[in-house]
Amino acid sequence: MSKTVLEARNLSVGYGGQAVVRDLNLAVRAGEIVCLFGNNGSGKTSTLLTLAGELPPIDGETRFLGEATRAPLYQRVRRGLAFITDERSLVFSLTARDNLRLRGGSVDGALALFPELEPHLDKPAGLLSGGQQQMVAMARSLANEPRVLMADELSLGLAPKLVDRLLRALRQAADRGLGVLLVEQHVSKALAISDRALVLSQGRVVLEGDAADLKQRVGDIEAAYLAGASEKHRTDKHSG
Ligand SMILES: Nc1ncnc2c1ncn2[C@@H]1O[C@H](COP(=O)(O)OP(=O)(O)OP(=O)(O)O)[C@@H](O)[C@H]1O
Ligand SMILES: [Mg+2]
Repeated sequence: MSKTVLEARNLSVGYGGQAVVRDLNLAVRAGEIVCLFGNNGSGKTSTLLTLAGELPPIDGETRFLGEATRAPLYQRVRRGLAFITDERSLVFSLTARDNLRLRGGSVDGALALFPELEPHLDKPAGLLSGGQQQMVAMARSLANEPRVLMADELSLGLAPKLVDRLLRALRQAADRGLGVLLVEQHVSKALAISDRALVLSQGRVVLEGDAADLKQRVGDIEAAYLAGASEKHRTDKHSG
């Protein structure tokens, strides 16, 4: 069995001493994609921030590459963590090419992953479409050959075809050994490329299992636990 590269042990997550997620246990192994689902406000982003070292745990432990750590994000990034948030984290005034090179990444590597970026390499990143920006962000993260990637709503506001494209690229990276923790609103699409998934509700894990099993029950899962999620995304979260 592959090595566990990212782990939460009895982790409580929150703000000002108030937990929004309690007693979370999850493990991501090398080569595996694990999805974290839950309604708006259920604590998905807060969980990723805590696992990234951006938010201190209220209780319990975050582990990275097999060791408990409280290191800040930049140190985890140096050791092989990539964190893609819905703020696409590009420098909008720089070209796509320069964004790709920023942290020593390879433009060729990015083009191998997303050939459709080629005609846009010399445009300022701020003028790219949301999908193109997200491809640049993802290519840049993968260029440094991270061991672990966490992605928060990678596909927010993107066309379904592009969502498929990004998720397929993630699957390819996982097949080469990357461990992925994915927060994604497209439940079916996410399960199709994942190994396992957890559902958060009111601060607790209410369901977890193999993606293959959960895929059979997407309708029930959405109805029982994710009723509010699509609503909010339709009304106030669409971006690019
Ligand atoms: N900086 C903050 N300070 C205090 N409370 C916060 C802060 N950020 C988030 N929260 C609260 O923590 C809870 C979980 O929020 P979080 O953003 O983690 O949820 P989420 O599952 O990512 O939701 P969404 O699907 O809308 O992105 C919410 O009740 C939110 O109001
Ligand atoms: Mg969120």
